[in-house]
Amino acid sequence: MTRIGMGLVGAGFVGPHHIDAVRRLGFADVVAVAGSSDESARQKAEALGVPKSYGSYQALVDDPDVQVVHNATPNHLHYEVTSAALARGKHVVSDKPLAMTSAQAKRLVNEAQRAGVVAAVTFNYRGNPLVQQARLAIARGDIGTPHFLQGHYLQDWLLKDTDYSWRLDPQQGGASSAVADIGSHWCDLAQHVTGLKITHVLGDITTVIKKRRKPSGSREAFQAGHGEGELVDIGVEDLASVLVRFENGAHGCFSVGQVCGGHKNDLVLEVCGATASLRWRQEDQNELWIGHRDRANEVLQKDPALLDERARGYARLPGGHQEAWADAFLNVMREIYACIAAGPPYPALSPIVATFEDGFRANRIVDAILESAADGGAWTRI
Ligand SMILES: NC(=O)c1ccc[n+]([C@@H]2O[C@H](COP(=O)([O-])OP(=O)(O)OC[C@H]3O[C@@H](n4cnc5c(N)ncnc54)[C@H](O)[C@@H]3O)[C@@H](O)[C@H]2O)c1
Repeated sequence: MTRIGMGLVGAGFVGPHHIDAVRRLGFADVVAVAGSSDESARQKAEALGVPKSYGSYQALVDDPDVQVVHNATPNHLHYEVTSAALARGKHVVSDKPLAMTSAQAKRLVNEAQRAGVVAAVTFNYRGNPLVQQARLAIARGDIGTPHFLQGHYLQDWLLKDTDYSWRLDPQQGGASSAVADIGSHWCDLAQHVTGLKITHVLGDITTVIKKRRKPSGSREAFQAGHGEGELVDIGVEDLASVLVRFENGAHGCFSVGQVCGGHKNDLVLEVCGATASLRWRQEDQNELWIGHRDRANEVLQKDPALLDERARGYARLPGGHQEAWADAFLNVMREIYACIAAGPPYPALSPIVATFEDGFRANRIVDAILESAADGGAWTRI
């Protein structure tokens, strides 16, 4: 098999996890890293053991050894980096959000179609074996027709006013913080697991911490601040609750917050159907709760021997050996690179991979939640 060359733009918090996943594939090489300057790119490449470094993404997308461009830059750069890669006929793995605005996301959907390449967005929680178990169980009718979805995605890394991220600056992160950054994951997961589209939303959003200390230098995600920097006004939300309706008439609600002490990466999705319920919690991701009315509830532990045949391949370790965030990320990457390796005409992406259309839809949902909140909490159609 011809080896596939990968180039990463943006090696901050999540970028190195793209590299780890691609290295684990076994048939792809991490060829280059691009950073915001020659010096930072050189340092990152050295630390990550990557042969080439570039001080601009343009140079990386021009490199003939790079066939797949991974975009892990801050949100405001997503459109231009992805668009430049597509214009050179490169496959693209964009971290979420696909773009900072829906208009940009829509343009990228069209540009990817024209380029005829493999184009994916990393809504990576889809890659967890028990998420796939839940999806297949619902599709098989194991819990009956879903009528209620609920859950949350709560974190605490922005709890203090000394915590700061580019996500809180609309010029770099976009018009939304918590809803776009983590609410988008919840919505994608809910739609993916049930196969149902969200059609309407009603949002209640708020900014709990209205002034924060902004550091003079850059700070990567999840790094705590120590009180340095000027005090700046924060205009984007760090907490939100959203009512949702699905295309089959199912109702739902979820909350997102980056200011909820003790919740580290607490993503929970519960689906209640006509006969039973399922609940998956990212922080206990090797367990799937199954709720019954007329018999004792169950907890299914991740064990390939106990999983649906079609989910089994996503569990790479035997029962009792915990799988985690990086393994689910790898599962998504495996499916994307399998398409690339197949060569043109590229086969359709596996359903476990979010397409650019899914990414555009995520942008539209975030817009609708913001519109709804601005209208004082009006039901808003996607
Ligand atoms: N899928 C997930 O679960 C997940 C998790 C975290 C982040 N993300 C997404 O990944 C993206 C990056 O987030 P992060 O938390 O890693 O941010 P980060 O700030 O930690 O890293 C961003 C990196 O991009 C670099 N950069 C800035 N300008 C650049 C430029 N012009 N060219 C090249 N590199 C540049 C920065 O120096 C930094 O190293 C965001 O869009 C975020 O939404 C997704």
